[in-house]
Amino acid sequence: MLLAASALHADYSTQSGHGYSASLGELRERFASFGQEHVFRFWDVLGSAGRARLAAQAAALDLGALAAADRATRELAAPGARCLEPAPIQRLPEHGGDAKLAAAARECGEEMLAAGRVAALVVAGGQGTRLGFEGPKGAFPLGPLTDRTLFEQQAQKIQGLRHRYGRPMPWYIMTSAATDTQTRALFHSHAFFGLPEGDVYFFQQGMIPAFDFEGRLILDQPDHIFESPNGHGGSLTGLVASGALDDMERRGVSSIYYYQVDNPLGRIGDPVYLGFHAAAGADMSCKVIAKLDPLEKMGVVARIDGRIGVVEYTELDDEHRYARGSDGELVYWAGNIAIHVIEAAFARRAAANADRILPYHASAKKIPTIDDNGHPVAPSEPNGRKLERFVFDALTGARWVTVLETRRDEEYSPIKNASGADSPQTARRDLMAVYRRWLSDAGVEGLDVTAPIEVNHAVFDGPDDLRARRIRRVAEAGDAIRIAPGVAE
Ligand code: UD1
Repeated sequence: MLLAASALHADYSTQSGHGYSASLGELRERFASFGQEHVFRFWDVLGSAGRARLAAQAAALDLGALAAADRATRELAAPGARCLEPAPIQRLPEHGGDAKLAAAARECGEEMLAAGRVAALVVAGGQGTRLGFEGPKGAFPLGPLTDRTLFEQQAQKIQGLRHRYGRPMPWYIMTSAATDTQTRALFHSHAFFGLPEGDVYFFQQGMIPAFDFEGRLILDQPDHIFESPNGHGGSLTGLVASGALDDMERRGVSSIYYYQVDNPLGRIGDPVYLGFHAAAGADMSCKVIAKLDPLEKMGVVARIDGRIGVVEYTELDDEHRYARGSDGELVYWAGNIAIHVIEAAFARRAAANADRILPYHASAKKIPTIDDNGHPVAPSEPNGRKLERFVFDALTGARWVTVLETRRDEEYSPIKNASGADSPQTARRDLMAVYRRWLSDAGVEGLDVTAPIEVNHAVFDGPDDLRARRIRRVAEAGDAIRIAPGVAE
């Protein structure tokens, strides 16, 4: 355990009864022995509330474990530290995959869904700095024609699954100290988007301090040490610590459908994927698409020292990044779209062994701090290293992993940046292209291919639903399919 109080809910008030004043000397000595005494440099000018706040936070930190985690990040990043080989991948039928196997997998996945054995888990604790959106990313209004947020769209997909399989699908939402309050408020103000409140379970991931480039903790207020969310790998430990995993087991859930909040094309509860995962007896699985180019910001799936895992794009060396086979294709083409199936039992094992299989990774960031007078400073250049656990590192601890290729145009168009590639504009464009394909595959007539369109996933989550309801013209779908006003159907 890295943080003495686990800091999972960043609730240091539990520490305030510790009588810090009696042990303040010891606390300061401990910090001094780790070269961290500077965190107390404003002590003399702090009021009693500020002193209590800082002492409680400091008392909760296990400095030895933190220093070890920081040291380990350097070994991880050392070039050539790991031996890479391409991983075996279940390919799409159009890339040589077996269509019969895919059909059998679908049947198996549908049985899992109909038996209520699958839960959805979204990681929504990130701060969306690159997107430049104030608030949780899941609250981003992606429409395309209404102000439907990413969360609402996901709720529609889950509602659709409930209707299709006749079973509740519990939805676990991981927030962080930065996103929790606003996320819960959004769900409450929208009546849980029509889902039963009891089937939506929020839990908060842990926080972890950052280091400056000299390995020192960073004050962001005179009485506060800077901390940031501990990475989506914190979902595995968070599921256990919050009781969410117990809740899943009580409900008879055996498989967790994990996804990131920022990809509106991502399917939830894809039966083919669930079926491939289950048929292989996998502990954890991964969906991939072919990277557009070596520099695309996606981790790649590979064998790492013999075990299947993901090498994050920031940690892939140029030799492997640019390697091409005799066919001219990238050797490490399999980009991780961060949609996993994780067995609940494996999540528990991974959390118990987090220190071994979920090492922290460090990245240089601009971290808010204060100057010698205690005034806030917003650095213009990176001034420290944030530490994060990556959920996909758990793959290397799995006894069996399935890696399944999917189609980019059907499943991946994330919102990462405010404009340009991977932005709300590209995501809306790609989502509308998906909707048009559904309609055309289902033979729906009279569609203007240039008209902006939005589909309610709770009603139609693919061409099969359109066929099942015998929709021949857009107008027959009522409000479930909207076309921009003024544009003819
Ligand atoms: C991520 C993956 C990358 C993958 C790409 C696909 C990492 C480290 N890399 O890159 O391999 O190819 O997505 O889109 O994830 N989050 C939390 N808590 C945290 C940090 C992140 O919940 O502490 C959530 C975010 O809310 C978001 C997701 O994790 O849903 C991804 O985080 P982000 O930092 O945007 O990762 P990318 O660099 O985009």
